[in-house]
Amino acid sequence: MGISIGLVGLGSFGSGFAPLFKNHPAVDRIGFCDREASLVERFASDPFYADKFNPRDRYASLDEICKADFDALVIITQPWLHAPQCLQALASGKHVYSAVPVISIPDDQEILDWCDKLVAAVKRTGRSYMLGETTFYRPEAMYCRRQARAGAFGDFVYAEGEYLHDVDAGCNLRQVQQRRLASASGHEWPPIRDAYTARGVRGGPMHYPTHSVSGPVCVMGAHAVKVNAYGYRNRENDPYFAHEAFSNEMALFKMSNGAVVRIVEAREMPGLAGQESETFRVFGTRGSFSERRWFSIARPAFDKLDYDNLPKPNKTELTPREMFDPLPPAVELAFKQVMHRDKSAEELLSIDFQPSGHGGSHPYLVHEFVDAVANHRQPAINVWEAVRYMAMGVAAHESALRDGETVAVADWGDAPQG
Ligand SMILES: NC(=O)c1ccc[n+]([C@@H]2O[C@H](COP(=O)([O-])OP(=O)(O)OC[C@H]3O[C@@H](n4cnc5c(N)ncnc54)[C@H](O)[C@@H]3O)[C@@H](O)[C@H]2O)c1
Repeated sequence: MGISIGLVGLGSFGSGFAPLFKNHPAVDRIGFCDREASLVERFASDPFYADKFNPRDRYASLDEICKADFDALVIITQPWLHAPQCLQALASGKHVYSAVPVISIPDDQEILDWCDKLVAAVKRTGRSYMLGETTFYRPEAMYCRRQARAGAFGDFVYAEGEYLHDVDAGCNLRQVQQRRLASASGHEWPPIRDAYTARGVRGGPMHYPTHSVSGPVCVMGAHAVKVNAYGYRNRENDPYFAHEAFSNEMALFKMSNGAVVRIVEAREMPGLAGQESETFRVFGTRGSFSERRWFSIARPAFDKLDYDNLPKPNKTELTPREMFDPLPPAVELAFKQVMHRDKSAEELLSIDFQPSGHGGSHPYLVHEFVDAVANHRQPAINVWEAVRYMAMGVAAHESALRDGETVAVADWGDAPQG
């Protein structure tokens, strides 16, 4: 028997995940929940969902769906709501998947308190928490984790990660903000945000740190120990940044494995640092990964150096296909059905699976959560990993507020084994 999943938050981002969760072969029941009734109806009336959806599984709020008997809830609501909503879901006995980040609110100490509560709730309830961090399942991250497991990096020395999303470039952040504030839950946020501003508490882009930090952290399997960071404050009275201490933040972390990691979170800075706006590079003593290229070097035998035959460096250009991990064939087929709904099962066999959504990460995120719940195991981006990402952002913001002072990074340890 499969598992049951309730989808909470069917807005712009959540709506893209609904068909993937519904079609995963290990899911046999799906429910829809949003405070906006029209969003629930959009899915409830779509015949694509009929085989796994019972019309009574329509819910008008998180409170309502927490009383239902789903195994797990997928929470893709506005970023300031995640942590308390995930705690509520865990307390109601459900496994929970959260959109990133753990929570984004202006107060550093409050964020750390929410991290603390989430780790405690996972321990207390025995339910799992997974963060839906997309960079973790970009092909670059999958490839680098495989290389790391094989020891191909040698010792990790240095890494970089950045999320460069200028407010007026690409997916326009002014429009995103306007949409997120337009719903019933959105209307409740400005007075709360204004209260933070009134007491002088202002956030910054490091409060949404996961796309930049997760690559280096998940590849190295290390956590941050301390940080020095600086911020750039908007100088043009741009209303988008009215409640922010900084529009751009840059940080240098010392990691638990001795490596140094440079992170940039920028919202007022057009352009790219590499080939992508949200990406990372990792450098080791034996191998390095940067912009879809793997560089390696074999060291000579130091006790009998042959100066005429020293090793040559290797460079390998990689395609996404070469970097992706494989998915189980039945899962891949189910996701292909989502992308090609007019095709028969036979026709689908001859179509290549092209993972899509933030570098192809979406199907992998869905599979990881469903598989972890179905098999009673911790997901890869479990609560211990998730709070590491969040704590890096908090400490960097704190350091930037103090003009680069060294700030220790909180840590809750590794996920328990087994
Ligand atoms: N690459 C990524 O990982 C990525 C990209 C985009 C968005 N996101 C995340 O996705 C999340 C959602 O973003 P969005 O643009 O879809 O927002 P949105 O405002 O379009 O959708 C959020 C929905 O949640 C619903 N909601 C809020 N509280 C609820 C409650 N108590 N009960 C039921 N429904 C409730 C709202 O009614 C709304 O429809 C954000 O947190 C964002 O950070 C992540």
